[in-house]
Amino acid sequence: MAGKSISQGGLVAFPTETVYGLGADATNERSVAQIYATKERPRFNPLIIHCAATRVAAQEVDFNSQADKLAEAFWPGALTLVLPRRRDCAVSLLAGAGLETLAVRVPDHPVAQALIDEAACPIAAPSANRSGTVSPTTAAHVAENLPGVTIILDSGACPLGIESTVIDLTSSSPALLRPGGVTREEIETVIGPLAKMELAGQVSKSPGTQGRHYAPGLPLRLNAGSARPGEALLGFGPGLPKDKANLSPTGDVVEAAANLFALIRDLDRPEFRAIAVMPVPETGLGVAINDRLRRAAAKQGSHREP
Ligand code: TXA
Ligand code: MG
Repeated sequence: MAGKSISQGGLVAFPTETVYGLGADATNERSVAQIYATKERPRFNPLIIHCAATRVAAQEVDFNSQADKLAEAFWPGALTLVLPRRRDCAVSLLAGAGLETLAVRVPDHPVAQALIDEAACPIAAPSANRSGTVSPTTAAHVAENLPGVTIILDSGACPLGIESTVIDLTSSSPALLRPGGVTREEIETVIGPLAKMELAGQVSKSPGTQGRHYAPGLPLRLNAGSARPGEALLGFGPGLPKDKANLSPTGDVVEAAANLFALIRDLDRPEFRAIAVMPVPETGLGVAINDRLRRAAAKQGSHREP
């Protein structure tokens, strides 16, 4: 049913293993335009194209040997590959923001897979949140944040809770554009060293990776030892009172990733003046968590991103 609605030009919010996405037929310019309008994206930041399988993605973008290896190792899963658009690519130019490259991934979630199968087209989907706000990890987050969206497939909380890792494979050295659900180390075991974002000069290539992003209403104070008066505490690790928000009482970064966006939302209340966030180790998924926290903490008024 929801897949039909996509193939007829509608928008559907759906769960993936990372976060909820706001999906539309990637080959339909009008539907894709509707995604940008619904999210109130200030400009056309390119979207990820969700495909049923690697061979479907390979109809839209040109795979190289590194892409083959990564798809083999991590798809379906939380990895997005940026590759050159094929000449006969059917995906809307707007979905790719007019770039000659396109981001593709095969999601690992039964509801997402069933939706793509039923729609029988690739699905363009950004995270299902208003531009610049925290990514949704439950259907309730989507309903709250995007009240205009009428079809939301509810499958509970997303198992990973943090967006996919974005890798650019369009230049001679592969580069990490956005840390996410698959770690740099996991990727490097398959294709060798990844260029640093700065070194590869890639930062501007992934428009959604700059400045203030994933931001709640309240300012965040990072690396806090404890909350100051008026602050909410977002804890991490053992030894904290049971009733306090804690990313992971056992100090597990995987659990912390799954809880991150939901807890930030919970604490983003007018009775507080800020959210004090305890340090999260820079290991495994901690890298992606710290990336999102730094963006959310970036000063108000700095470059605001989708
Ligand atoms: O986990 C995810 O990736 C979720 C779920 C729904 O799949 N989607 C998601 O989409 O996070 P979004 O639109 O919020 O983030 C897409 C990221 C942005 O940072 C964007 O700049 C980058 O991917 N991106 C997309 N196409 C690109 C391209 N052609 N070149 C470089 N970066 C690209
Ligand atoms: Mg997003």
